[in-house]
Amino acid sequence: MTQIIDGKKVAAEVLAECEAEISELKSQGVTPGLAVVLVGEDPASKVYVNSKVKKCAELGLHSEKIVLSKEATQEEVLEVVQRLNNDSAIHGILVQSPPPPQIDEEAIVRAIDPAKDVDGFHPENVAKLALEDPTGFVPCTPAGCMRLLQAAGIETSGANAVVVGRSMIVGKPMALLLMARGSDATVTIAHSRTKDLAGVCRQADIVVAAIGKPEFLTADFVKEGATVIDVGINRVEDAAAKKGYRLCGDVAYDEVSAKAGAITPVPGGVGPMTIAMLIKNTIKAARQA
Ligand code: GUN
Repeated sequence: MTQIIDGKKVAAEVLAECEAEISELKSQGVTPGLAVVLVGEDPASKVYVNSKVKKCAELGLHSEKIVLSKEATQEEVLEVVQRLNNDSAIHGILVQSPPPPQIDEEAIVRAIDPAKDVDGFHPENVAKLALEDPTGFVPCTPAGCMRLLQAAGIETSGANAVVVGRSMIVGKPMALLLMARGSDATVTIAHSRTKDLAGVCRQADIVVAAIGKPEFLTADFVKEGATVIDVGINRVEDAAAKKGYRLCGDVAYDEVSAKAGAITPVPGGVGPMTIAMLIKNTIKAARQA
């Protein structure tokens, strides 16, 4: 029987921990605050930003949503970041990625106070992750993947893990987390230029798919009994669906789930974990402020 790793359930457990921590902080007179900045009108980004703000409200966190037009200039975005850096009610700042093409995203990330960088994208936090310094912020999606592995009882120590994708948001931090002391996996990072990608993936006890290509990882990529973590959230056209599209992961779920030992579904796998870990990071930022 393939274990279906239930991200909604694990995210609810993480959020229950958060609720206890939030009430403790509130009793000390601190309400953690998160600012979410959306530049432009990317439809998926709009959905993500709204669900982040909604979750804050549900948990009694202070939150602020700042929406800038798709013509916003670099200076305008930097001004917003500066204002939020100086706002003591805001402990966490997140600028939704990807911004429109006129925005230099790296410069925006560098302008965020590293102590408020709850995305963990600032070079100081990237370095802290590499250094295994626990005061840094770990990017939410890979942190959520690690929590799912732990909750599902998947042994990472000594396991061969293959991370497909080398992005700063998922692939690279995921590899660092898997190889860190305590997790102790043997990690390969594969990407679009990897030779015999399917063969490399078939060596893995744990495969993390973060490529952004719908249903790219087929059964041919997966060893019998392996654990498959699907980070992809892709919209594919589907005339039969109410919205005209359906969501699918980077993994061909039906055929891979028949072969895997454990797998995360899309939706309901990694997705709900990202927000839960963001709330956790915001609480950590408020504690460390
Ligand atoms: N876009 C996709 N994932 C993320 C994320 O974790 N943080 C931000 N800021 N943008 C994203």
